[in-house]
Amino acid sequence: MLSIGKNIIPSACLLAPLAGISDLPFRLINREHGCEFAFTEMISARSLVYDSRKSLEMLTRAPGDTPLGLQLLGSDPEVLARATELVNEMKDIALIDFNAACPVHKVVSKGEGSALMKEPKRLKEILEAIVRHTGLPVTVKIRAGWDDTSVNAAAVALCAEDAGISGLTIHGRTREQGYQGRVDYDVIAQVKKALRIPLIASGDALSPVLIKKMFDETACDGVAIARGALGNPWIFRETEHYLKTGCIPERPSLMELQRVMLQHLGMQCELFGEIRGTVMFRKLFSWYVKSLWNIKKLREKAFHALTKTQMTAIIQELENPRH
Ligand SMILES: Cc1cc2nc3c(=O)[nH]c(=O)nc-3n(C[C@H](O)[C@H](O)[C@H](O)COP(=O)(O)O)c2cc1C
Repeated sequence: MLSIGKNIIPSACLLAPLAGISDLPFRLINREHGCEFAFTEMISARSLVYDSRKSLEMLTRAPGDTPLGLQLLGSDPEVLARATELVNEMKDIALIDFNAACPVHKVVSKGEGSALMKEPKRLKEILEAIVRHTGLPVTVKIRAGWDDTSVNAAAVALCAEDAGISGLTIHGRTREQGYQGRVDYDVIAQVKKALRIPLIASGDALSPVLIKKMFDETACDGVAIARGALGNPWIFRETEHYLKTGCIPERPSLMELQRVMLQHLGMQCELFGEIRGTVMFRKLFSWYVKSLWNIKKLREKAFHALTKTQMTAIIQELENPRH
């Protein structure tokens, strides 16, 4: 169990924000497999304020997609305050998360995302502005630091806590590491010791064993599952089971894999239209089949599929045993 502000979440494993991935169908599929709390992908506060169609589409929600954390990205406290007011009017948002972790050049070059690891005072001003403008719980996601010569997560986390937030997520890698290299359990453990608010840990949460390792090594209150959920919504129930019993359940059968793939494809086509939904499903296809053998030809075929019927036939052709 995990409490963040007024949210009491039955599981301590959450679905992490994933740009271009954690859309409504992805969240619903994961929720069906035991995910009890999900985040939207990061949404630019500026685009939200200026009513961009893309950010509104990113905010598509549906019954059953709760509780949901909405993640904002930005660097100007005033713009974030205005975006927060817009979020207040939206239904079914359980908390506002602020992104101070994104490593992408296009983002940090504007002083956003993990660039704020170098500006703790500005980060605090932003968080204060969000907290002042909402009754929702506010959380922030940070990194270990900018690079290995400036690992400052504990100091940044304390500064953020002072702004009145209700929880903090740390991705235990520096901005310089991006998504490569090993996650730093020690820095996460230090942040946990420093904070009074709940801490969610992120990084290498790729299997039930690694997720347990994260809890054991850092004493964190929750773990955010990111790449571990790509083509693998089963990770939520498998992890709960492993944490309770110490046993790893059997992996889903080929039939179950195909059933979920077809369901996910159907949801994508319904929400985004047939062609766009199918094209968007191509990357999901390769994640779903990553543990199957002799898949090269079908994967290539999937990368050329344009209609739901074509993709469905390819999914039905899957027949290889797993590793
Ligand atoms: C494709 C991709 C997109 C991501 N998008 C976001 C995002 O929008 N917001 C965010 O806070 N983190 C984002 N992340 C970071 C993840 O939430 C997570 O912190 C990171 O992948 C480390 O966890 P892992 O090693 O278990 O994957 C993204 C990661 C990936 C791989």
